[in-house]
This record gives sequence, structure tokens and C-alpha cells, in this order.
Amino acid sequence: MNPPTTSVKRDRTEAAVLARLKTAISGTPSDHVLENVVKLLRANSDHYDWVGIYLTKGDSLILAAYAGVAETEHVMIPIGQGICGLAAKQGATVVVPDVSKDPRYLMCFPSTRSEIVVPIKARNKVLGEIDIDSDRLSAFTTRDKEILEQAATLLASYLEKRGDRLEAYKVLQ
Ligand code: SME
Repeated sequence: MNPPTTSVKRDRTEAAVLARLKTAISGTPSDHVLENVVKLLRANSDHYDWVGIYLTKGDSLILAAYAGVAETEHVMIPIGQGICGLAAKQGATVVVPDVSKDPRYLMCFPSTRSEIVVPIKARNKVLGEIDIDSDRLSAFTTRDKEILEQAATLLASYLEKRGDRLEAYKVLQ
């Protein structure tokens, strides 16, 4: 039998990360849940340099939680503007492999090279989104898209259960 080790690499498989997310999201809704989710996502990846959750309020996206080395000036983004606004308007994930080549991109950090934005949807409503910046070019794979879309589904259930922000929902046209 192998002896126990203190240097076991943290399990970053999709199932393990989703299990941790489920634990973070379950239980009593609280203002710490979104903060815990962004921290957890960032800590479980080597290329998620800035992770944010925006919530929809009327025609805008409002930054609710983030994990990263710096704050963004984009704490409020009108739906339709930037990559964040595009993903909310379309109700679909947007991946930008090279932000320097996308004129829609709103710059937050000079080090960012690529970005993924995943809407948090419940039926025909966009409740918010997960926005991740990476300092690597073409950082986001199909696997990232899949795991983040599953995380967004968990967050949609959580936000619906929380219920107190229902007025913030954006109905897709
Ligand atoms: N780059 C985003 C703005 C938000 S920052 O990445 C945190 C965009 O183009 O919408």
C-alpha cells in the first residue's frame, strides 16, 4: 500500500471541480456564495487569471464578485457592449482566442490575451454571466466551455432559489 502523501496534486478533473462547485453553491443562499465560486474556479485552473460574475440588472451587467489580482473598471457593462454584453444579448457563450483581434473587446487588464464569457441562463432569461480573462493566447478549450456552462447551470438554479434579485433578470428577445 502506498503511504499517505502531503503533496497529492489537487484533483482538477471536471467531476472534482463540479463537485466542489456544488458544495459551494448548496446550502443557505448568502452573499459569500458568488465570491466562493469565483475563487474556486480561479484556484482550480492554471489559466483563469481573472474570474468574475456579473448579474443582469435591467439593460446592464453589474459586477457581483471577482477573483483576480486587480479590480476592473468595468463594474457596469451595458448589454450589447463588449464581449460581456454580446454574450448576454445572444444568450450564448462567446470565446475570444485573441482579444487584440476583436474590436468588440473592452480592455480591462493589459496582460489579457483571451477571454470566455458564459451566460447564466434560466429558460429564456439571462440572469448574469461568468467572465474569465486569461493571460494566455487561445487559452479556452471545449473542455473549459463545457465545465463553465455546467457551472452556469448550477449558478442559475442558485440565483433562482435566492430569488431576491429576480428584478435583475433580462428576458431574451
Ligand atoms: N473584456 C470584457 C469586459 C470585462 S473585463 O474583462 C473584466 C468585455 O469585453 O466585455
